[in-house]
Amino acid sequence: MATLTQPPATEEPTALGYVETRGLSKHFGDVRAVDGVDLCVMEGEFVVLLGPSGCGKTTLMRMIAGLEKPTAGEIYIAGERVDDDVPPRARGIAMVFQSYALYPHKTAFQNIAFPLEAAQVERSTLRRKVQWAAALFGLDRLLDRRPRQLSGGERQRVALARAVVRDPKVFLLDEPLSNLDAKLRAMARFELKQLQRQLGTTTIYVTHDQVEAMGLGDRIAVMDKGKIRQIGTPRDVYDNPADTFVATFLGSPPMNLVEQDEHTLVGFRPEHFLPREVFGEEPDLVTFRLRVREVEYLGSDRLAYGYLEEERRSDQPVIAAVPITITAPLAEGEVYEFAVRRRDLRFFDARTGLRKPAPR
Ligand SMILES: Nc1ncnc2c1ncn2[C@@H]1O[C@H](COP(=O)(O)OP(=O)(O)O)[C@@H](O)[C@H]1O
Ligand SMILES: [Mg+2]
Repeated sequence: MATLTQPPATEEPTALGYVETRGLSKHFGDVRAVDGVDLCVMEGEFVVLLGPSGCGKTTLMRMIAGLEKPTAGEIYIAGERVDDDVPPRARGIAMVFQSYALYPHKTAFQNIAFPLEAAQVERSTLRRKVQWAAALFGLDRLLDRRPRQLSGGERQRVALARAVVRDPKVFLLDEPLSNLDAKLRAMARFELKQLQRQLGTTTIYVTHDQVEAMGLGDRIAVMDKGKIRQIGTPRDVYDNPADTFVATFLGSPPMNLVEQDEHTLVGFRPEHFLPREVFGEEPDLVTFRLRVREVEYLGSDRLAYGYLEEERRSDQPVIAAVPITITAPLAEGEVYEFAVRRRDLRFFDARTGLRKPAPR
């Protein structure tokens, strides 16, 4: 069973996670690609590494897989320390990269069978396993085709089937869906989640796409500049971001951050704006005026881009999302009253960017 809580700290640390890194770092010259990462993934858990391009996601995965030697730190898989001398083949890991290389002259069947052949699996077992993996990914009728006779999505599924067929202890998936178009990607995301639940295989999944991360992860580890900034359930990281980086990386449009005073930033999400027509006499509201500069119609919402209209200043940009079901007027150039519930405000230290408790 996946568990969502971190194990309690003990006096003498033993590896409690199924995949665990301690103080893991990789430096390339002056570049700290991965910088002191402590990650603890429980057995059967689906953890997403989310962060912008260049933040160190691939390097972290390559170290876990054994393809890159750490500069410092430790890696444990299933309780065994693997970073010093366990080669990639012996780590029980299947990795799928963004650029999943299939053998162009082999059929889908032969591509999927390849790791089993390399491991000299007996012929009838091999056939049974390939057919099982092909069925999982809906490839049954495509097994005789070569990669160039398959669509991008089908090739991706062959790469995933090839990973699954080895019955690995751990899946490492590095942006495996990024070559698919948006519609196919949503479908593939759903299928991947179902499959992972069914197999119960511990999975670490890399993406820079926050929607994908929110949809897939039991937990999300948000990375920036080689460090994990926060790890928690999708709800945790979205509702209670640990710092302004996490607050603005998750959510589209991102959380608004406005200066309350020289010490404090106040954060509130665009969807938490309540138009005058909605909030009525509700208690515990913070009300303000918004000067609208631009309105975007997105089908499900209208987005109002504007500035807070305050006595002392009117240069703080904010974005409000008003659901299309609310028929409040919203015109460019006008000023409107809005409210946010006090419980939806988040506070951050203006200097460090770290979350701080709400002022009394
Ligand atoms: N082999 C390498 N040599 C030098 N720098 C590298 C190498 N691999 C990655 N880097 C650098 O390390 C940082 C992290 O890269 P990477 O792990 O690929 O990030 P991500 O996968 O999050 O986009 C980047 O600044 C990248 O340029
Ligand atoms: Mg990468």
